[in-house]
Amino acid sequence: MTQIEYKQLIENELEKCFAGAEKLPQAGLAEAMNYSLLAGGKRIRPMLVLEFCRISGGDIREALPVACAVEMLHTYSLIHDDLPCMDNDELRRGRPTNHVVYGECTAVLAGDTLQAEAFGSILRSALAPERKARCAEILADAVGLDGMCGGQYLDMVGEGKILTEQQLTDINSRKTGALLVAACQMGVAAAGGSEIQLDAAGHFGAAVGLAFQIRDDMLDVLSTDAELGKPVGSDAQENKNTYMALIGEDGCRSTVEKLTEFAAGVINEAFTDTDFLSELAHSLAVRKN
Ligand code: IPE
Ligand code: IPE
Ligand code: MG
Ligand code: MG
Ligand code: MG
Repeated sequence: MTQIEYKQLIENELEKCFAGAEKLPQAGLAEAMNYSLLAGGKRIRPMLVLEFCRISGGDIREALPVACAVEMLHTYSLIHDDLPCMDNDELRRGRPTNHVVYGECTAVLAGDTLQAEAFGSILRSALAPERKARCAEILADAVGLDGMCGGQYLDMVGEGKILTEQQLTDINSRKTGALLVAACQMGVAAAGGSEIQLDAAGHFGAAVGLAFQIRDDMLDVLSTDAELGKPVGSDAQENKNTYMALIGEDGCRSTVEKLTEFAAGVINEAFTDTDFLSELAHSLAVRKN
């Protein structure tokens, strides 16, 4: 499949996740969840789930609930990341942020609910019990204390402080890298792939994830609100530690290139048919939004 075909498949599936909630007393909560979940987005993480499943010999239709799960989890992280108590941003995916439209209380609950439903989506899937358990464990590890939430905490307490490159890399590999690692590894796990494949997928996800956050930091300085669909200059406003501030634009470009080359190479022994992933990694390195 092409990136566009994958994206269409994912969009169709996400639309079904919380359809039919209009009659519930809590329909307003479902509306807030869908507002952010169905607002577009590049759908990189679910794409990684499906492609790693495919090259591990699995059936991508069976992995669709896992693909939806990672996008729900990611969307939750964005809703909370934008809150006034966190990055305090008012534009996301080209629309006013969730709390701007629905209020902070509903936005917090929309994020909480998407997180729970992400695990529900995996555990209710038709995958073999040991495969779905492995996927849920991978996702929990990626999001918890040692993963995304831990990284978001360190990102916040690092505001306004001078950090070393090592400290910044540690934050970024948690706040952003961990979920990309999980997406790649859940694809392998959903297909029942080998430990060697899980390892290779993890290395790919970690390198792409780090490059992804460096590119995100670059775009926060170099892009425009209209092109990015979120406010530029947010990092400077919040006194964030970023790669742009630490190593500059040229340093960022060459680091992203190196990480991308590493990612494209590291999956070649464990998998055949890695062209899609290599192209995806290269396109992310120069993405405009
Ligand atoms: C933005 O993620 C947040 C980061 C982890 C840098 P994406 O750039 O994948 O955002 P969407 O999903 O396309 O909106
Ligand atoms: C976000 O990092 C990481 C998350 C876990 C959401 P950023 O705060 O840089 O992401 P954007 O730029 O708001 O999308
Ligand atoms: Mg943030
Ligand atoms: Mg942010
Ligand atoms: Mg950013």
